[in-house]
Amino acid sequence: MERSRIIGTGSAVPARVMNNADLERLVDTSDEWITSRTGISERHICGQGEDAATLAEQAALPALEAAALDPMDLDLILVATITPALPFPATACLVQDSLQARRAAALDVSAACSGFIYGLAVADSFIRTGMYRTVLLIGSEALSVLTDWTDRNTCVLFADGAGAVVLQGQRGERGVLSTHLYSDGSQWEVLNAPGGGSRCPVTPENFDQRLNKIKMPNGNEVFRIAVRAMEDACVASLKHNHLEVADVNLVIPHQANARIIQALAHRLSLPPEKVISNIVRRGNTSAASVPLALDEAVRGGKVHEGDLVLLVAFGGGLTWGSAAIRW
Ligand code: ACO
Repeated sequence: MERSRIIGTGSAVPARVMNNADLERLVDTSDEWITSRTGISERHICGQGEDAATLAEQAALPALEAAALDPMDLDLILVATITPALPFPATACLVQDSLQARRAAALDVSAACSGFIYGLAVADSFIRTGMYRTVLLIGSEALSVLTDWTDRNTCVLFADGAGAVVLQGQRGERGVLSTHLYSDGSQWEVLNAPGGGSRCPVTPENFDQRLNKIKMPNGNEVFRIAVRAMEDACVASLKHNHLEVADVNLVIPHQANARIIQALAHRLSLPPEKVISNIVRRGNTSAASVPLALDEAVRGGKVHEGDLVLLVAFGGGLTWGSAAIRW
């Protein structure tokens, strides 16, 4: 059977590091509060000349190198992002240009923090139907541009970065076993950026009210929904593949809050060593967080051939989903 196998991973973060002491100078907060409530100590933030497209390219290059492929081998480039470099064209087109991947089609996927899982489902579908064989999928975000640096409820959470995978259709049992995607658009207001689109274009008044920035009126509620939704998505994945929690070697969850990750592990009865968490140094990089953590796990020797790897994410939309991969 032909499956979509991940044959290379890569990641990139901006050079600039912002730690909790830097945030103490911006808003009424403390290192103690941020560390104990979120698990985040520092995060990377774009500097001059860096954006979602430049980060995506920086993550793609090591992924292609690990896959031992040339950009001309790519049939499709997918970029999952809610902070595209430009309103249009797609950030994937900018990456296609900078990589000189002249054969590749290019498309962005917008599903907030679940963007990488959604992108994986799109890539897997193209590969399984035989339309494309080799797909570069990148999650890339410059969330710092959407962050309201005067709102202590949200500015301590978000960060910039990118993670990439190269997928190729190959015969055998290794590869993506399944993807499960969910959404609840009725809850779009729970987590959103109301301005900057065609409904509420940027005007001087809207800009002054920071309507183009992330709003999360009730983080506590988002927390509770996130834990339940990610647990359900993991259970659906396991059931679909006739697997048990004990069969899982590694879970790579979206990095929104260390306490969400701990709660998920607790509800699934997963030991901490089976759950990847890099939020302490990376913060919440939305669509980039799962592939960034995946690449760090791969390069850190934590993922082995034959392992069952479960990816799971939750974010604005609301959207959530999971993917089961036989590595
Ligand atoms: N520093 C100090 N105090 C703070 C800060 C801060 N940075 N932020 C909030 N507080 C205060 C609040 O004002 C509140 O004070 P009050 O009790 O006097 O009103 C108190 O701390 C507790 O606030 P809570 O909201 O109850 O804190 P909680 O423990 O829930 O943590 C947090 C808040 C970190 C936002 C958490 O709810 C969370 O992580 N939510 C989920 C985020 C998430 O899942 N996002 C999903 C994806 S993001 C995407 O898709 C782009």
